[in-house]
Amino acid sequence: MQVRLGRQYRFFAAHRLYNPALDDAENLRIYGKCSHPNGHGHTYLVDVVVSGPLNPDTQMIVDLDNLDECVNAVLDTIAHKQIEVDVPELAGQRSTTENVARYLFDKLDPETTRLGIVLERVEVAETRNNRFVAERAAA
Ligand code: NI
Repeated sequence: MQVRLGRQYRFFAAHRLYNPALDDAENLRIYGKCSHPNGHGHTYLVDVVVSGPLNPDTQMIVDLDNLDECVNAVLDTIAHKQIEVDVPELAGQRSTTENVARYLFDKLDPETTRLGIVLERVEVAETRNNRFVAERAAA
């Protein structure tokens, strides 16, 4: 049996969704309000799901302080930034929440490996209506 742990975090960031190859009207059609020329902010909710064996002494998967330290270090690379401008890995790309979820997964994966746990999934909600999931592909 496998036991998983989910923990929720949040961060604030700004973005503008637009494709520079298209004009403003086309960007508005595709990306809606998120293509507003001057950008805007969101409160992103992030759910991190990890799995691992129970530590025989603590009977826990991971020390939550250690997990928080890893996740917060990753979130610090994107929080309070203009995502498609200030985050090097996403610079010039579309700052969709799909891409944000993928970015956070890729950054967090080696950190959780260091802790001896497996990163199963990163879920990111930009609004309360949508949830985007980046998850480990089946081996
Ligand atoms: Ni937006």
